[in-house]
Amino acid sequence: METPGVLVRILFLLLAQLLLATALGLRNVSQRTFEINYNQNCFLKDGHPFRYISGSIHYFRVPRFYWKDRLLKMKMAGLNTIHTYVPWNLHEPLPGKYQFSGEQDVEHFIRLAQELGLLVILRAGPYVCAEWDMGGLPAWLLEKESIILRSSDPDYLAAVDKWLGVLLPKMKPLLYQNGGPIITVQVENEYGSYFTCDYDYLRFLEKRFRYHLGDSVVLFTTDGAYEKFLQCGSLQGLFATVDFGSGVNITAAFLLQRKSEPKGPLVNSEFYTGWLDHWGQPHSTVKTEAVTSSLQNILAWGANVNLYMFVGGTNFAYWNGANTPYAAQPTSYDYDAPLSEAGDLTEKYFAVRDVIQKFEKLPEGPIPPSTPKFAYGKVGLKKLNTVEEALDILCPSGPIKSLYPLTFVQVKQYFGFVLYRTTLPKDCSDPTPLSTPLNGVHDRAYVSVDQVPQGVLERNNVVTLNITGRAGATLDLLVENMGRVNYGRYNKDFKGLVSNLTLGPDILTDWMIFPLKTEDAIHSHLQGRGGHGRGHHVETLARSSSNYTLPAFYVGNFSIPSGIPQLPQDTFIQFPGWTKGQVWINGFNLGRYWPARGPQMTLFVPQHILMTSAPNTITVLELEHAPCGSDGLDPCLVELVDKPVFSTTLTYDHPPTKLLTQDPWLDHM
Ligand SMILES: *[C@@H]1O[C@H](CO)[C@@H](O)[C@H](O)[C@H]1NC(C)=O
Ligand SMILES: *[C@@H]1O[C@H](CO)[C@@H](O)[C@H](O)[C@H]1NC(C)=O
Ligand SMILES: *[C@@H]1O[C@H](CO)[C@@H](O)[C@H](O)[C@H]1NC(C)=O
Ligand SMILES: *[C@@H]1O[C@H](CO)[C@@H](O)[C@H](O)[C@H]1NC(C)=O
Ligand SMILES: *[C@@H]1O[C@H](CO)[C@@H](O)[C@H](O)[C@H]1NC(C)=O
Ligand SMILES: *[C@@H]1O[C@H](CO)[C@@H](O)[C@H](O)[C@H]1NC(C)=O
Repeated sequence: METPGVLVRILFLLLAQLLLATALGLRNVSQRTFEINYNQNCFLKDGHPFRYISGSIHYFRVPRFYWKDRLLKMKMAGLNTIHTYVPWNLHEPLPGKYQFSGEQDVEHFIRLAQELGLLVILRAGPYVCAEWDMGGLPAWLLEKESIILRSSDPDYLAAVDKWLGVLLPKMKPLLYQNGGPIITVQVENEYGSYFTCDYDYLRFLEKRFRYHLGDSVVLFTTDGAYEKFLQCGSLQGLFATVDFGSGVNITAAFLLQRKSEPKGPLVNSEFYTGWLDHWGQPHSTVKTEAVTSSLQNILAWGANVNLYMFVGGTNFAYWNGANTPYAAQPTSYDYDAPLSEAGDLTEKYFAVRDVIQKFEKLPEGPIPPSTPKFAYGKVGLKKLNTVEEALDILCPSGPIKSLYPLTFVQVKQYFGFVLYRTTLPKDCSDPTPLSTPLNGVHDRAYVSVDQVPQGVLERNNVVTLNITGRAGATLDLLVENMGRVNYGRYNKDFKGLVSNLTLGPDILTDWMIFPLKTEDAIHSHLQGRGGHGRGHHVETLARSSSNYTLPAFYVGNFSIPSGIPQLPQDTFIQFPGWTKGQVWINGFNLGRYWPARGPQMTLFVPQHILMTSAPNTITVLELEHAPCGSDGLDPCLVELVDKPVFSTTLTYDHPPTKLLTQDPWLDHM
């Protein structure tokens, strides 16, 4: 029998070829190097001087559907590198429960960048700031109430150690030396502007990063260009870089980097292209000329630069952070970046590209165009049920009973809403002050008595509200977590009722606390086994004299018109006459809307969540006041438009210096 012999020989040849290819591949891989040259003050890539011109993109703020489009636009602007953070809380939502697939597939994102010919700078945390809930730290860390975040508190370090033991081994094969695109890895973020100034913590991180990633990778830190920040934020073994925007004296800023790093490449890790927003303040924009002239100077210095942001994106669902004194960031993270929130090419994009091409050859080929938008028009919604009516569906496990209020973390609900219920201990037929003497409503409470809306308590702003009701009436506070503080000393931000409430002189007790599983309820269309929940009080009782309606869900459908090719397309949802709430389309949580406060008036709706085969369902949770009558006669309208709208805009000559203004402890420096 000849055949087996031939097969064996063929197999042997194939195997030999495979081994040879692997050996050559490995030899090639081992030739890939990325390092710092301290004599020539530059990076060396494969032994040759290399300067990066990078842009920030957060994969967690751009739908996966659009990753390639945005990355390609970045490449066509002349960037050779991208920067991304990795938010720990996105990937480990519960202790030991990890998410790395779909929208969370950071490895796929990094490989995609590589396929397009881009290098990657990884800002691996564990803390990232990023105007992201709690700066990327998981809220469950606060289960130990006394924990000192970003320090060598042993419980904090144990959690960090476990996390890095999951993340960094995934990143190791993606390092440049190992055949991937990651050239450098940032440890922590702007650590020097945090109060702990704990070198043991930085040393711990350095050891763990080295242990998982090896000795050859360039590890670095980033701090504001101030001497004190660089002192507390840098550590031997981690290359110190600075961040600053236009309007800053570049010579002075790089001289400060030189104090920490007398030699090596000059690096501005965050050169601001625009600025962030807060609810209740105008939308920030920064003049293009300021950005381009400063960028031109930085590049003329021969420095490495990362444009923060190159594309901002969206804080979908509940992911926005906040600054102190408490001010939450809106859903849009447009940032006035060269690519808009929806990924569109702007005048700033072309101006930045013009500067870059004075220093680097631009890639050949067309720039992908802005994605088309479609105005699907007005959609009528119907009121489905109030939060109280839907309580069985929203909280199927029933309430937790407690003498005094518990925080979100204590009831293991980290995002969204918790309903706190008790009864009025005495008659309040005269208006009686319901107060939070220690400013303990984090962050907003929508108050009702026997399903009559009473008003809103708001962290820092409204700490007392007069209510009326009879003894024994049900007092409900639907408390919204508006996003955890992401920067500075106060990012240990507990949510819910974090201190006692008083009615007149008395502390309220005997609470029933309902953690609301809003996402699950939306996915089951707010229909429980018992139909519409316990709907024993309906509109007849909502005879409030105030301007508030009970927090309630509204739903409606719209269909994508047939006969128009290239639909569905992206759109923006607008809320004429609505006040504040949360919106989902086909169960996808688009984020918070708050036209009553602005500046953001529309929410970005990416096309990949829309369907052509069936009607698309819009679900709105309006918390304060819907524009339609309780008689159900006035239609409740939302509108799908083809442009984003901001109510007020402020144009800065140069981005503000957050580092000196936003952290109250700095006042005492
Ligand atoms: C090494 O890689 C380069 C480019 O990646 C390729 O052109 C070259 O042929 C490879 N060398 C060997 C020996 O495989
Ligand atoms: C910028 O800083 C350098 C170094 O501190 C200083 O010599 C120079 O005068 C500054 N330039 C301006 C315009 O302030
Ligand atoms: C509550 O009502 C009392 C008595 O009517 C009034 O004096 C007080 O100003 C009210 N407080 C608030 C916060 O509205
Ligand atoms: C509420 O008040 C009680 C009695 O003074 C106190 O023991 C408790 O710690 C307080 N709870 C909160 C959450 O502030
Ligand atoms: C309701 O809102 C209108 C306009 O916003 C305001 O003038 C009025 O005082 C409000 N009424 C109450 C009871 O808050
Ligand atoms: C929306 O469409 C779905 C089916 O696609 C249907 O089940 C539902 O009843 C519709 N809702 C409204 C409010 O029209």
